[in-house]
Amino acid sequence: MENRFIPAVVLLVASLVAVRSAVINVQSSDIDFYKLYNNPEAHINIRLYYRRTTRDRIAAHGYPAEHHHIVTDDGYIVGVFRIPYSHKLNNQKELRPIVLIQHGLTSSSDAWILNGPNDGLPYLLADAGFDVWIGNGRGNTYSRNHTSLSTEHPYFWRFSWHEIGYYDIASMIDYALKTNGQGQKSIHYVGHSQGTTVFFTLMSMRPEYNQKIKTAHMFAPIAIMSNLQSKLVRTVAPYLGPRNIYSLLFSSQEFIPYNEFLLSLLFNLCEPDLNLRPVCDKALDLLYEGGRVNMTAMSEGLSTHPAGCSTNQMLHYLQEHLSGHFRQYDYGTEKNLKVYKSETPPDYPVEKITADLHLWYGESDDLAAVEDVLALADRLPNKKVHRMEDPLWNHGDFALNVDVRKYLNEPVIKIMQTFENANN
Ligand SMILES: *[C@@H]1O[C@H](CO)[C@@H](O)[C@H](O)[C@H]1NC(C)=O
Ligand SMILES: *[C@@H]1O[C@H](CO)[C@@H](O)[C@H](O)[C@H]1NC(C)=O
Repeated sequence: MENRFIPAVVLLVASLVAVRSAVINVQSSDIDFYKLYNNPEAHINIRLYYRRTTRDRIAAHGYPAEHHHIVTDDGYIVGVFRIPYSHKLNNQKELRPIVLIQHGLTSSSDAWILNGPNDGLPYLLADAGFDVWIGNGRGNTYSRNHTSLSTEHPYFWRFSWHEIGYYDIASMIDYALKTNGQGQKSIHYVGHSQGTTVFFTLMSMRPEYNQKIKTAHMFAPIAIMSNLQSKLVRTVAPYLGPRNIYSLLFSSQEFIPYNEFLLSLLFNLCEPDLNLRPVCDKALDLLYEGGRVNMTAMSEGLSTHPAGCSTNQMLHYLQEHLSGHFRQYDYGTEKNLKVYKSETPPDYPVEKITADLHLWYGESDDLAAVEDVLALADRLPNKKVHRMEDPLWNHGDFALNVDVRKYLNEPVIKIMQTFENANN
């Protein structure tokens, strides 16, 4: 029973966050996977794509791009990319305020650059004069690295988004401040989805970091999850949320390793020239309203995602949904007593987040429900809420909506510039 249940759950949870999982689930009955996999053309393309990093993709557009390996306090090594200045401005000698941007669950730094230089946030920030850092949480494509543990070692995968916030984001902030070399004491931050959860975690657990933040922008904020509408999460949560045999079997593993089979499959489905393209479009329509998403960006999007994570990150989210609390990982009563000295995990003290917070949310977001965002906002001492004008705006629109530049990226950059003008 368990043996059959677990793979089914893995598949189910996959489609919660990963676009390409929807492709597979929807079409598995009428697609010959072997034929797709056996297409040599796709493999050549995939190999090329596989070796390309966020840095290569940025450099291909003419921007200066760097790849940094940052060691965290607990020994993980995370890969972080940087656009230090804009070749269009030639501003390497000028003061360039630091911005750190952080991706969502099963995603990576690649997600931010898919829209290209005309619309993608990192490019727009660079062209507005910022020093842009694009993070990667431990365990994803660019952060499978450790000072002593191999990724083959099960202990490597013993982390949740708690550790990504507490250790990885803290190290990225300190490293960027040091490496920028212009004596800056604080940064701007942007996170999408899990990129907001890790920020709330760090700023509430290590409140001294609030002083290192100028403005922070939370796209589709996720902390309290009582009202989320995703049918999938609601179905799976009762099985995996409580501490039981299912969640034990599912915990501390790598979730969907970045693998070539999956890649070639997805690349094939969404390549514009291939006659399977309509399949890709149809599957994506399930997640995005037709015509709202940049389909040109999709084939590269699918070839870089899912970028991998630990199953504990998903379990932790399911626990939050069930408990209605934004709190630390639930290890079960016995271990909770050891780790936290209480039977249930402590709540994150979000009241301590004093940084200048901007919550950007959409009415049709089935993961960051409006009620949950507003309940969180109630507890935050220093926040401004920005409801997206478009009533259809959902979780994925924050990344790939065709109007993301106008409705999101430009207003966000404007807030940062206003801060800089007032403080320089
Ligand atoms: C792992 O980190 C080391 C030390 O910073 C770095 O030299 C190496 O390139 C990294 N390996 C990978 C696969 O990222
Ligand atoms: C869509 O993505 C492509 C490929 O990255 C890019 O060239 C184009 O400018 C994007 N368009 C919009 C409206 O985002």
